[in-house]
Amino acid sequence: MINRYAVILAAGQGTRMKSKLYKVLHPVCGKPMVQHVVDHLNELAIETVVTVVGHGAEMVKTQIGDKSDYVLQDKQLGTAHAVMQAKEILADKKGTTVVICGDTPLISPSTIDALITHHENMNSKGTILTARLENPTGYGRVVRSESGDVIRIVEHKDASESELMIQEINTGTYCFDNEALFDALSKVKNDNAQDEYYLPDVIGILKSAGEIISAYQTDDFLETLGVNDRVQLSQAEKVMKQRILEKHMRNGVSIVSPEQTYIEADVMIGQDTVIQPGSILRSGTIIGQECVIGPNTEISNCHIENETVIRHSTAYDSHIGSYVQIGPFAHIRPSSQISDQVKIGNFVEVKKSTLGRGSKASHLSYIGDAEIGEDVNIGCGTITVNYDGRNKHLTKVEDGAFIGCNSNLVAPVTIGKGAYVAAGSTITENVPGEALAIARSRQTNKEGYTARLTRDK
Ligand code: UD1
Ligand code: CA
Repeated sequence: MINRYAVILAAGQGTRMKSKLYKVLHPVCGKPMVQHVVDHLNELAIETVVTVVGHGAEMVKTQIGDKSDYVLQDKQLGTAHAVMQAKEILADKKGTTVVICGDTPLISPSTIDALITHHENMNSKGTILTARLENPTGYGRVVRSESGDVIRIVEHKDASESELMIQEINTGTYCFDNEALFDALSKVKNDNAQDEYYLPDVIGILKSAGEIISAYQTDDFLETLGVNDRVQLSQAEKVMKQRILEKHMRNGVSIVSPEQTYIEADVMIGQDTVIQPGSILRSGTIIGQECVIGPNTEISNCHIENETVIRHSTAYDSHIGSYVQIGPFAHIRPSSQISDQVKIGNFVEVKKSTLGRGSKASHLSYIGDAEIGEDVNIGCGTITVNYDGRNKHLTKVEDGAFIGCNSNLVAPVTIGKGAYVAAGSTITENVPGEALAIARSRQTNKEGYTARLTRDK
């Protein structure tokens, strides 16, 4: 078994993005480009992954965390100079080194794997992942000899007119014999149109030294897209989006209208769940089996169990159990825990609250900073008055309690087990279990009032 290493180039500013955000941190389907690359590499048996950071180094490191080692490229003098920074970690190692750009999020693990295998089978010192493009503008071109051998790569900006006609491009992903790579890097010069040290020059250097150089051409040119500006970002987004949707459909999820559905990377969905049009499922979301999500529902970072229905609603950073019904038009805000068989109906907002099994808030309620027990009925228009202008306070409603319509529960307050709150009450004191609390002024009827009004005119 040959040892394998990887270097990710992620030090550039990404000027063409015209953004405050460093290029490799721009998300594609909710996940930063460079994170896609790291995750792909982590699916392969690679001993050490080194990410070259520069612009936004701290932010890139925070994003990737301990899934990679890091080296700093202080000044961005080019891609060869960037790889050179990894010398301190990799120089003396024997094996195969994959070099990949942090701005090519679509290259799949299977393609990288095929590239490595091809490289090792050919006994090459350097292998380029290439693709054939209708419009190769901007990419480095693969220059081959008459007999078809790869000779070198020429950058778009340095290419002659005839070289510009070449449609086979350098995807920016390579495999090298590790020692040959660092040896050749020391020979790269910056006498070119951009005064940069080009990594692709390593190919020409190795070739001139008589080493075996090869190319592995992928037929899925969409994989190779390098994101340099926002047009390419949207193209990457489109390809990734379709890939994600197809993965879920192949796994047994029905997506009624893929064109109107957006699912970010790393979302998990169980079999026989149906995603209705207009749904947006963001990263960190896990959905169980046989759920119905949508239409028009946005879910972010929620764990939802089985056979739950969420229609026309939004839910964030929460846990939602099985057989739950939510919506239409409900808003589940962060840190909510919604147990099995709960019903949350139209125009109900839940924030940082727990609702026990079988409880219902069917219409027009605000439930914030509350602990609601099991089988509680929250009547229409009930509000937890959780905020006194300075602090948030807890409302507790114990199992089986019944809160009448249009009640205010002024926190901190506890409604005891099995207690009743009469409709229209403003509850400011604890209600003991099994009690009925009425907190509203009594009704008085003024008999004959209408007649009196007419008489007084
Ligand atoms: C590069 C290749 C080109 C290839 C294309 C594929 C070079 C010279 N050219 O061009 O042949 O067709 O990718 O997408 O390599 N970076 C650093 N430090 C630097 C410069 C760049 O870390 O000093 C990083 C960038 O952050 C980026 C990656 O390297 O992630 C590629 O750099 P970029 O400037 O986008 O290269 P391209 O012009 O796209
Ligand atoms: Ca690029």
